[in-house]
Amino acid sequence: MTTPLRLGIAGLGTVGIGVVKIVRQKAKLLEARTGRPVVITAVSARSRDKDRGVVLSDYAWEDDPVALAQRDDVDVFVELMGGHDGTTKAAIEAAIAAGKDVVTANKALLAHHGQALAEAAEAKGCVIRYEAAVAGGIPVIKALTEGLAGNEITRVMGVMNGTCNYILTRMQDAKLPYDEVFAEADALGYLEADPNLDVGGIDAGHKLAILASIAFGTQVAFDRVQLEGIQRISIDDIRQAKDMGYRIKLLGVAQMTGRGLEQRMTPCLVPADSPLGQLKGGTNMVVIEGDAVEQVVLRGPGAGEGPTASAVVGDICDVARGLRLPTFGVPAKDLKEPQQAYSNSPAPYYLRMSLLDRPGALAKIATILGETGISIDRMRQGKHVGNEAPVLIVTHKTQQSALREAVEMMQKTGVLAAEPVALRIESV
Ligand code: HSE
Repeated sequence: MTTPLRLGIAGLGTVGIGVVKIVRQKAKLLEARTGRPVVITAVSARSRDKDRGVVLSDYAWEDDPVALAQRDDVDVFVELMGGHDGTTKAAIEAAIAAGKDVVTANKALLAHHGQALAEAAEAKGCVIRYEAAVAGGIPVIKALTEGLAGNEITRVMGVMNGTCNYILTRMQDAKLPYDEVFAEADALGYLEADPNLDVGGIDAGHKLAILASIAFGTQVAFDRVQLEGIQRISIDDIRQAKDMGYRIKLLGVAQMTGRGLEQRMTPCLVPADSPLGQLKGGTNMVVIEGDAVEQVVLRGPGAGEGPTASAVVGDICDVARGLRLPTFGVPAKDLKEPQQAYSNSPAPYYLRMSLLDRPGALAKIATILGETGISIDRMRQGKHVGNEAPVLIVTHKTQQSALREAVEMMQKTGVLAAEPVALRIESV
């Protein structure tokens, strides 16, 4: 009889229960694929009495996830509690200190503490696996660390927050305003407990920072991701973009440049007929470019019980098989601290503003664009509503720094009724 791999699962929410179901229902398949039985020995969650629709009485119960992480009959601590500090972090540290391997779905934890945890794990000979942390059911961590290991990665980009993609595509398809679709997403249970994690781009920024670390051999640097959420995207932006043959996406881009690591998670216009432009609803897409492979496009469900549990169980199977890789693909002590770089590659920009109805207002805006070296490609002014008129400008290719300077200057003119919305038009 081969030695079973014994799991301690902390967190019995949607994903935790999804993992319990797969491990119970597919015991034979997992054993056939890993060469040893995979069993749950102990679990932990906030409430013991809650009916979760699965039999848990076969497993030892721990109220305290730290105690679960330290149990002698647990080989792998499976962390599905969420939260990146407090008990969650303490339990993972306790698991590593006790020599256990860790499987987690926790992107925030890795984005904030990935380097320290990876160093601690590698010093103890433990592994941390986290496929479910990025893009749910898509095996993107495995693709980057294993399948594409022979490549110099040149760029990683994608749509990594299903909730934002749902909101943006629903606004477009149902012609509904942001607030209404946000309320719908809330009612459907799509939003994180703190919705700003989704719509503020933070959740997707965590994921991008993790992918950038693996792709470029750098320490996870979430604090150096240029972040902008989707809260200011209006139905009018969606319509204007569509009229020009584009779609608006919360797009993450990470690339290493001669000036440092560029990481941005911002709303962008992408061509409507590109794979990213065609991505609908809660689906995620990650595009990886490497010198040898050229381009790989991965598409799949970014959240939900089945897809996320699928990724967690994939990691558990790798541990059962004896696969022992450094957390971010190379030893943590060799990861370089990245220099933050802002995008320098010129791109056209979409600029939407609300202009006060005064003589010379439009001339002031045009003058600023001229002074900052930005050339106008297209311009349209809509009908005045009260004392304000919507103005849309599409620029020729310009650098982000020039565009920022222009927007700052515009805000000082006193002719704008609100902060302009500036969106990069990305060629993907
Ligand atoms: N809230 C995330 C999303 C799922 O909407 O994609 C987990 O990261």
